[in-house]
Amino acid sequence: MSGLADIADIGTDPRRGGYSRHVFDDAERQLREWFVEQAQRRGLDVHTDANANMWAWWGEPGDDAVVTGSHLDSVPGGGAFDGPLGVTSALQAVDVLRARGFQPRRPFAVVVFAEEEGGRFGVPCLGSKLLTGQIDPDRARNLRDAGGLTFAEAMADFGADPARAGRDDAALRRIGQFVELHVEQGKGLIELGRPVGVADSILGHGRWRFRFHGQGNHAGATRIDDRRDPMLPAAELVLAARRAAEAADDARATVGRIVPTPGGTNVIASAVDVHLDARAPERSRELVADLSARAAEFAAHEGCEVEVLEESFGETVHFDPTMRDRLRDLLHGAPALPSGAGHDAGILAAERPTGMLFVRNPTGISHAPEEHAEQADCEEGSLALADVLQELAR
Ligand code: GLV
Ligand code: MN
Ligand code: MN
Ligand code: MN
Repeated sequence: MSGLADIADIGTDPRRGGYSRHVFDDAERQLREWFVEQAQRRGLDVHTDANANMWAWWGEPGDDAVVTGSHLDSVPGGGAFDGPLGVTSALQAVDVLRARGFQPRRPFAVVVFAEEEGGRFGVPCLGSKLLTGQIDPDRARNLRDAGGLTFAEAMADFGADPARAGRDDAALRRIGQFVELHVEQGKGLIELGRPVGVADSILGHGRWRFRFHGQGNHAGATRIDDRRDPMLPAAELVLAARRAAEAADDARATVGRIVPTPGGTNVIASAVDVHLDARAPERSRELVADLSARAAEFAAHEGCEVEVLEESFGETVHFDPTMRDRLRDLLHGAPALPSGAGHDAGILAAERPTGMLFVRNPTGISHAPEEHAEQADCEEGSLALADVLQELAR
């Protein structure tokens, strides 16, 4: 009953391995079509909201609904489960409830959020942040992908009206409670020997872009003393970020992407963008402020300059304890786990009682092709989700 097998061929990335599925690209559009088809096959009515999130309604849409779902986009070269497992499990939970003869007393929807990973436009949870007004719609419209296309242009090309993007009170009123199922992205459940857990919190996290400016020049003809090479402070920043995270309490700092301009082997770069992902229970902004001061020193030492841009930021989220404990009780004392990863559920938690279920990942690896969940654990997760939704919607 995986459902993931249906979409296994969509958006495979032979060069990087795994999947690259980014908002409004061919793969993500095919996944949207697949979702609509699956929903319709179950008699659910699908509509796409002003922010390109998709809602499949079991019965009449209405306020105060029980909502479940996740996202279908991936990071570049990501795994098969991060996102899609929450969508396939939601559809399976509907099947389970139908087979039990259950008819929800409250409105009930399965949602697919747009651009959860920020893999194309750089801001994670873009669909849910627009929905809740946690990002200024003008800023969102002007975000650019690697090819220079704006989010507004991509939305219009998809057939959506970018002018309508932004906080949507009518759509928000429809969410009574939201429960997202997700593959676990660490080793918590392996260590506990349990197939399913409940989320307790999401680590505060953000993304920053450090742009180092130097002087582009010839790799052979430019004497070492004459160089202003922005790759040097960039390299020092990578090391400093790691050391800063090691010295802080439960912090993480990652540089997963460095983009030199113009990017030639025999060219000293004129600029280098270092993309930093930093996370900590508290004070991740302070950690980045310290790194920014260090980056300015590294740059000055090489005769370069640096600009720092905060691209996204969210404080640590503690899920509604009543909801968390209710989910744990319903699932016979399932363990509560912190999440180092961000989720749309963390964005919605600012507005509504929100909870998450995690399914064990035997590799403990995520955002990489090795991400995994066993079939039996996925089935256990879908049944757990069905039990939870049944209780909430009765
Ligand atoms: C999304 O998965 C994130 O936490 O980066
Ligand atoms: Mn992810
Ligand atoms: Mn995810
Ligand atoms: Mn995520």
